[in-house]
Amino acid sequence: MTALPCFLEADLRGKTVLVRMDHNVVKNGKIKDTMRIDATIPTLLHIYKKGGMPILMTHIGRPFDKKTGTINISEGESVAPVVKYLEEKLQLKGIIPECIASGPEGITDLSPILPAVQKLRAGEVDFVYLPNTRWFKGEEAKDESADILAQSWASFADLYINDAFGSWQAHASTYNITKFLPSYAGLLMIKEVQNLEKVFNPQRPLLSVVAGAKFDTKMGPLSALLKLSDKLVLGGVLYNGYLAAKYKVNIKGLSPEDLQLAEQFLQEAEKFPDKIVEMPFIIECDSMEDVSNWRIRKVTDLQAGMDLNYILDIAPESFSDSSIQEVFSSAATIFVNAVMGYTVLFKEGTKALYSLIHSCSQAQKLFGGGDTIQEFGDLLPGIFAQAKNDPRYYFFTGGGAVLDAIAQGSPYGMKPVQALLQKIEK
Ligand code: 3PG
Ligand code: MG
Repeated sequence: MTALPCFLEADLRGKTVLVRMDHNVVKNGKIKDTMRIDATIPTLLHIYKKGGMPILMTHIGRPFDKKTGTINISEGESVAPVVKYLEEKLQLKGIIPECIASGPEGITDLSPILPAVQKLRAGEVDFVYLPNTRWFKGEEAKDESADILAQSWASFADLYINDAFGSWQAHASTYNITKFLPSYAGLLMIKEVQNLEKVFNPQRPLLSVVAGAKFDTKMGPLSALLKLSDKLVLGGVLYNGYLAAKYKVNIKGLSPEDLQLAEQFLQEAEKFPDKIVEMPFIIECDSMEDVSNWRIRKVTDLQAGMDLNYILDIAPESFSDSSIQEVFSSAATIFVNAVMGYTVLFKEGTKALYSLIHSCSQAQKLFGGGDTIQEFGDLLPGIFAQAKNDPRYYFFTGGGAVLDAIAQGSPYGMKPVQALLQKIEK
C-alpha cells in the first residue's frame, strides 16, 4: 500500500489529463533505450480505459545553460522520436503543438497548444505531446515564472498525473503544476516508490554498491547509505577519493574538491568500522586517452606519500577474491548504482561486478540509474534479458531519483512526490 493518491481513484471521463512522463531517452534525435517509455504504458492504457484524454510532457536533455541563463533549442532534443515510437507501438495518433521560442529565454507563447487540445477533444488525435518542457521559459526557474508557466499549462487540462519518477528535480512540470490542478501519481511512480521501500526496509544484510564521477552530488546519498547499509562498496572517483584520503596517496586526476569531500566522508565512515568493503585490486593507467600502459595495483601495497597515475577501474580480480565473494554471497539485498570503470575504456570491472551480483541468486537485487542499467544491457545482454523477467531483480527508471530519495531519508522524500502527498493532506 502507498500513501500516494493514484489517478485510478479519479473520475477521468471526458477530461483532459496532463501527464508528466520521464521520457528523457533521446540523444541526438535518436532513442537510446525504450525502457523508460515502455514503463509508462500501463498509465496511458488506464487513462484511456477511464475515458481520459492525455496531454503528455517530458524533459529531454539539459537545454538550459546555467551560466548564460539561456535555453538552447536543438532538434536533437525534440520529443518527436518519442511521439513516433508511441504512435507505432500503440497504433495511436499524436500531435506536437508547434510552439516557437521567442528567443534565448525559450518558449513563452503557449497559444499553439489550444488547437492541438481541441483536436484531442474532437477525437481527431489520440494524444497531445507538448514540446520538451525545458524549452519553455520558467520550467527550471526559481522565481515566479515557474508558477506562471505551470498555471498556463494547467489551463489546458482538468487534472495532472506525475508518472515521472526519474525527474526528481522540483521544476514547473513536476512541482509547481500541482498548485493548479487536482494531482495524482501514475502507476509507474507508485511502483517505483513501493520498490524504494525495499531499500529503506531491506532484508538484511544490505550491501550497497555506489560509484560516480564526482563526489559533490553524491555526498548526501553516500552519508545516508553509510547508515542504511550493512556493507558499502565504492567505485569510480568515489573509491579513488576514499583511497587517497585513507592511505594518503596522491592519485592523478583527482580534483582537490573531490579529495576534500572524500576526507569528510572518510571521517564519517570511520564511525562505522568495517562497513566499507575495500576492493583489493585496482587498475592504474598512465594516460586517460591511451590505455595501452596499465597495471594492476594492490590496495595493501599503498603507502603514505605514494604517487599513483590515473586509477581507471576496479580490477576484475577484486571480484574473484574469496573474501569479497563472501560479502556478496551473504547479502540478502544488493542495491547498485554503479559503473565501476572509466566507462569508454574500462568495462571489465563493471562486467565482473554485475556477473558476481547475478550469481547471488537468492538476493533481492535493486538496480538504479540510466547508465547502470544501460551498461548492464550492453555488457551482459544474455544475463540482462533473464534479469528483466526475474522477480529478484528490480530496475528503477531513475538513478538520480533513487539517490535523492535516499538522501532525503524516505521513499516519499523527493520534492515532486512530497507535492503529491501534500495535495491529499489539504
Ligand atoms: C535522468 O535521465 O537522469 C532524468 O531524466 C533526470 O534528468 P536531469 O538529471 O537532467 O534532471
Ligand atoms: Mg541522470
